[in-house]
Amino acid sequence: MAIERVGVAGFGAMGSGIAQVCAQAGFQVTVREIDQAAIDRGWKGVDTSLARVVKAGRMSEDDAKAARGRMRASTALADLKDSDLVIEAVLEIADVKRQVFEELDRICPPPTIFASNTSSLPIIDMAIRTKRPDRFAGLHFFNPAPVMQLVEVVRALTTSDETIETLRAFVQKLGKTPVVSKDVAGFIVNRLLVPYMLDAIRVLEQGIATADDIDTAVKLGLRHPMGPFELLDYTGLDISLHVGDVFFEEFKEPRMAPPALLRRMVAAGHLGRKTGKGFYEYDEKGNRR
Ligand code: 3HC
Repeated sequence: MAIERVGVAGFGAMGSGIAQVCAQAGFQVTVREIDQAAIDRGWKGVDTSLARVVKAGRMSEDDAKAARGRMRASTALADLKDSDLVIEAVLEIADVKRQVFEELDRICPPPTIFASNTSSLPIIDMAIRTKRPDRFAGLHFFNPAPVMQLVEVVRALTTSDETIETLRAFVQKLGKTPVVSKDVAGFIVNRLLVPYMLDAIRVLEQGIATADDIDTAVKLGLRHPMGPFELLDYTGLDISLHVGDVFFEEFKEPRMAPPALLRRMVAAGHLGRKTGKGFYEYDEKGNRR
């Protein structure tokens, strides 16, 4: 099946990046958010990101304008009804996601494929809430979506081969590389990344080294673009805490359990860049102080 129109549920950090990537690749995109304030924040993210792409010389100003012109935003989920593919990127809360898919299932015609951008929740739990569990999969993008080259295509026990092949081809049309994973918590990347990030916090808790030295060690010793604490602050400590809790629930392994420091920092509201303070401190522009 050929995908032409894409619906994106959620215009937050991931939803706006995903919508932008789809529009840049020539797809018509409709995004849905719950209110105008959230839509305005989403557009701000898209405009800032497109400006960076243009400034970096990776796209002309005209092409960026054309990409933006292929996107529209709405507060009505019903406006996603004409989509060939709907990608869900709403809050990482199981009940919220299930509710969105139940509603989408009533709105969209049977051929529409549904995909969730969840980073940790079981795809199957969402798929069985719809009448199209065979046309349901995970499509996991990485932050920042306009930059990161990988997309995980997640096969639930009910996902058809045709759906996997359609999504694989779709990811390639976005100019990104697909990998296929089974439906286990964390898929491939987060299954490896999350225990590593949690371990880095334990290394800090144990006083083995400072956050700065751990980050420097990983950047220079492993050539990662960011150290674990820079990445924790970048993606948001609340996200890592939530994912760690989901992982521990699934695997029951101590190394998957979020360390006390992470829980306390989230309780204190030290969520990373978005609140100006996490393992490091940031100014209003998100630059480290
Ligand atoms: N939109 C568009 N372009 C962007 C961008 C954005 N939001 N953010 C960065 N860029 C571009 C810049 O314009 C620049 O382009 P150029 O090289 O062509 O000039 C390039 O990316 C590099 O950016 P900067 O020079 O500003 O900064 P850095 O070199 O430090 O790169 C980074 C920033 C791309 C974020 C890099 O540090 C990085 O790759 N970090 C690791 C990110 C990562 O690991 N993400 C995965 C997180 S895990 C996840 O998402 C899973 C989820 O389930 C939690």
